[in-house]
This record gives sequence, structure tokens and C-alpha cells, in this order.
Amino acid sequence: MEQTSQTHLSAEIRRRRTFAIISHPDAGKTTLTEKLLLYGGAIHLAGSIKARKAARYATSDWMEIERQRGISVTSSALAFDYHDHTLNILDTPGHKDFSEDTFRTLEAVDSVVMLLDGAKGIEPQTLKLFEVARMRGLPIVTFINKVDREGVDPFALLSEIERTLDIRAIPFGWPIGSGTGFRGVWDLTRDTAHLYEAVDHGGARASDRICASSDPELTAVLGSLPDREAFEEEIALLSHAGDSFDRKGFLEGRVTPVFFGSALNNFGIELFLDSFVDLAPSPRAYQSDKGAIPPETPSFSGFVFKIQANMDPQHRDRFAFIRVCSGRFVREMTVTNATTGKPLRLSKTIQFLGQKRERVEEAWPGDIIGLHDPGLFRIGDTLCEKGLFHFEGIPSFSPELFARLILEDPLKRKHLKKGLDQLAEEGAIQVFAQDPHGERDMIVGAVGALQLEVLKFRLEHEYNVKTRLDPVGYDRARWMTGDKNRIDALSGTLDTLRVYDREGEPVALFRNEWALRYVVEKYPEVSFHGTSPRGFKN
Ligand code: G4P
Repeated sequence: MEQTSQTHLSAEIRRRRTFAIISHPDAGKTTLTEKLLLYGGAIHLAGSIKARKAARYATSDWMEIERQRGISVTSSALAFDYHDHTLNILDTPGHKDFSEDTFRTLEAVDSVVMLLDGAKGIEPQTLKLFEVARMRGLPIVTFINKVDREGVDPFALLSEIERTLDIRAIPFGWPIGSGTGFRGVWDLTRDTAHLYEAVDHGGARASDRICASSDPELTAVLGSLPDREAFEEEIALLSHAGDSFDRKGFLEGRVTPVFFGSALNNFGIELFLDSFVDLAPSPRAYQSDKGAIPPETPSFSGFVFKIQANMDPQHRDRFAFIRVCSGRFVREMTVTNATTGKPLRLSKTIQFLGQKRERVEEAWPGDIIGLHDPGLFRIGDTLCEKGLFHFEGIPSFSPELFARLILEDPLKRKHLKKGLDQLAEEGAIQVFAQDPHGERDMIVGAVGALQLEVLKFRLEHEYNVKTRLDPVGYDRARWMTGDKNRIDALSGTLDTLRVYDREGEPVALFRNEWALRYVVEKYPEVSFHGTSPRGFKN
């Protein structure tokens, strides 16, 4: 294969920004994503939200259950260009429940946009996703949406972010006026103002109207504020704070730059995007068992962070989503799956560009590629062009809901196994059994209640297996390592149950915090872990 020059590779890496938007449902993630695509030129006209949502079902909501519920259960990756940059947005499910899939998606990004509804502040799902982003040490940029609405108090929002999330919030923009009196956003880094005009759904791209601080139009706007003096004092104070932006703290997830805008009205999008491509880091190095693999490593490597089966019900296809970590990917290249040691030729590749699904001919660090998967991949698999190493895995997280899975037709055991294997590989659920071989008395665990419903639905519709899920009262799992005899002795009380995960690793399920504490004290020879010790390696 033709050698890629190191300069070309470095330039492609520098251009890329791979990120996810984390938010609570209804904060405006769909709207913002669409507007980012609009400003990137990946789509030319944003429809009204309802029309767009209808279109979305046709292009990205593959599963029947999504059509029925009108929510997105799957996550996808979209690529688009903005000026000299290529941006990859990885979608995290927007409904109230989420699965490990979400956690893993955050392993495949280099930064996160935290989107808040300006009138609501930090809501529960944002908090949960924020915690995962923080655990991963990801840099977080905050976009406060819906500034055109009543009830947006920027000072209160900043202090809520700082208090609730324990992160320093540094405003890069500042709203001029509020509610019906909202007039625009002051750009604190350039000392200019972006004047606001409501638009009808923001279907077409429009640049913000930018005024220098001496512009008479801006003077008139400021004159209409109820307390112009107070506003100018705020700006003087905040502009000063902006100078002291601690980039290192941002890259380490301790400081978040804050932007204000209205995705629906295409307002503040450009200011945000321009600053985001400047601030957000380009693809990072990933840790492997052979040390850190920097993206500039000339040979290609990547890992599977998501498997999606049956995306198109007509074709029963399955895709493995790969994050490129180093080197250049070229279609038809031969790589080794480090987990199985087998060589593979990568030919059936897809990427979502804007709203189109296209074949990927080449890709660079930070890019996401979908590979048609006839069952060859598992989550966490490392693909290497040269050398053999494994990227450090993301562990399985403790589910919070458990149910005993009862097969209604005992003759369908084989179908059930196939279905459970595939769905567990997608990361939607975790499967435990009361014996290390995974055959007796199966218990399924999920992070959210919806995942259990999705499981039942998909087993029935995709694998033709009818099941019943009987709730069991456990609410946490702990993987166990240490003295094997003591682990075996922990057989089960009313509040505790020993089971095994799909890899045959022992796990204890507990009914509550109290039961967990009791067992931890009684079994000092055993260590209890909230995540699977084997990570996502096989
Ligand atoms: P989500 O993906 O985070 O769930 O949110 P989505 O984009 O679907 O937006 C949720 C609602 O918030 C939508 O209203 C949308 O129009 C509205 N919205 C998004 N951005 C802004 C904004 O900047 N300002 C205001 N005022 N509203 C915004 P909806 O009632 O669900 O839909 P529709 O009736 O507007 O079609």
C-alpha cells in the first residue's frame, strides 16, 4: 500500500474533532446537531422539527421499537466538515434511560459538548452523563440553549454548574437582555456583540449579525436594556475572567468554557463552532497493553466500541463501529483482530455523512467507520495493521435493574442463546447465570428499565423467542476477585446472590447498599468491584 507521509497524517489528525453531545431529553440536542450539520454544509436546509423527526425515522431509526416509541434507542456517528476541520459527532441516546452503549460511546470521543436548557439548568440525565465524561477525563464545552426563552439567569446557571458539577465555568459569551428582551450575545473573547433575530425554525443557514463595541446599532441595543450600566459592569468583569482561561484545566476536565445560544433560531451556532474547533482537542493517544499508541503512529489501529445488529430489518445486517486510533485506514486493507489473532480484509465499510450513508474509502484518527460484520467482532476488539496490542478496555458497568428471564417455549433455547449473545455484545444488557457456563437460571441486568423492555421486544421480533421477565429485587452487582474458596462460599442469602457473567467471572448481586456493606465486611479476602475487572477484552 502506498505510504502516507507523516506530514499528511499529522495534518489530518490536527483537523479532526470527535465529540458527543450530552444532554437531558428536550434540551435541544436534535436541533443543535441538525444546526451543526447545517453550518457545516452537510445539509442545506433544516426542516421544521416535526418534518425532520419524521425523516429521521427513515434514515437513522432502524429498529421497529424506535418507530413505535418515537425515540432513538441507537446511537450513530455523523461526520461533517467545518472550515478546515472534520468533525465527528457521536450520538448518545436522548431518552431517559440509557445503556452501556452510552458509556462506551464516550470512550470513543475526545471531548464532550454539554448542552443545557437555559431555563432548566442541570437535569438528571445530564448529570449522569457528565459523571461518565468526567471519569474519562474528557474536556467539556458547555452550550446553554434556548436563551430566547424566559427564565434564563446566566449567573445562576454558572453557579449551578460550578456547585453541582464541581467544575469551573468560564463564560465565553454573555446574553444581552433576557426573555422577550433578549437582544444577543456578547462575545467576551473578541469584545463584539452578536445581535439576535428570531427566525422561522432556522431552516437555512444565516450568519450572526456581528457588531464592534463602538457600532451605533449596538449602542442603541444597549440603550434599550433596563439597566445598561449594570450590564456593562458585568461585561467588564467577565471579560477579565475570560483572559484567565486555564486551557490545561479544560483539557483535564476541570474547567468548562460556556456559550449561550438558541439552536432553534440558528443563533450563537457560528460563535460556538468557531470557538469549539479552536478549543477542543484533536484525537488523543489511547492506552494499550504495549503502552500509549499516539494517533501519529503510521500504521492503522482502532477498536470496536459499538455493535449494532439488525439496523435494517429487511437485511438483518450487523455493523461493528470502529474508532480509528492511529494511522490511515484504507478500504480493502488487511488487519489483524488482536483478540482472535485472525487476519481480516476490511472491505464493507460505511460512514454517515450528514444524513447519507456512504462507503468509506479512507479514514484517519478520530474518524468512525462502520464495518459490515458477519459476526466476527466483539465490543473491545482491537484491530491492528502492524504489531499486536490491545487497547485498554472499558469495563462493564454495574446494572441497576435485574430480572429473571423465563423462556416461554423451552424448545427455543438455542434461539434465545443466539439472541442474548448478540444483544449482550451490543451492550444493551448484561447476562448473568447461576452457573459459570451460563446455562442455568438466567438473570439479565440493565442500566435502565427501557433496556429490559427493548430486550424482550427484540428477542421476540428479531429472534422469534417469547420470554417473560420477572423482576428480582437486586439493585447492584459487584464483580469479585480474590480468594476463590471464599467466593465459592458466598452462595446466597436473601439479600445476596452469586452469579456468573458471560465470561464466567463471579459476580454478586445485592438487594441494597446495606447488604453490600454486610458482605464486604464479612468477606475481607474478597475484593468487590463496581466494574468488570476484565474490561471489555475477551
Ligand atoms: P432533544 O433532541 O434534546 O430531545 O430536543 P429537540 O432538539 O427535539 O428539541 C426539544 C424542543 O425544544 C423542541 O420543541 C425544539 O423546537 C425546542 N428547542 C430547541 N432549541 C430551542 C431554542 O433554542 N429555543 C427554543 N425556544 N426552543 C428550542 P418541541 O415543542 O418538542 O417541538 P416543535 O413543536 O417545536 O416541533
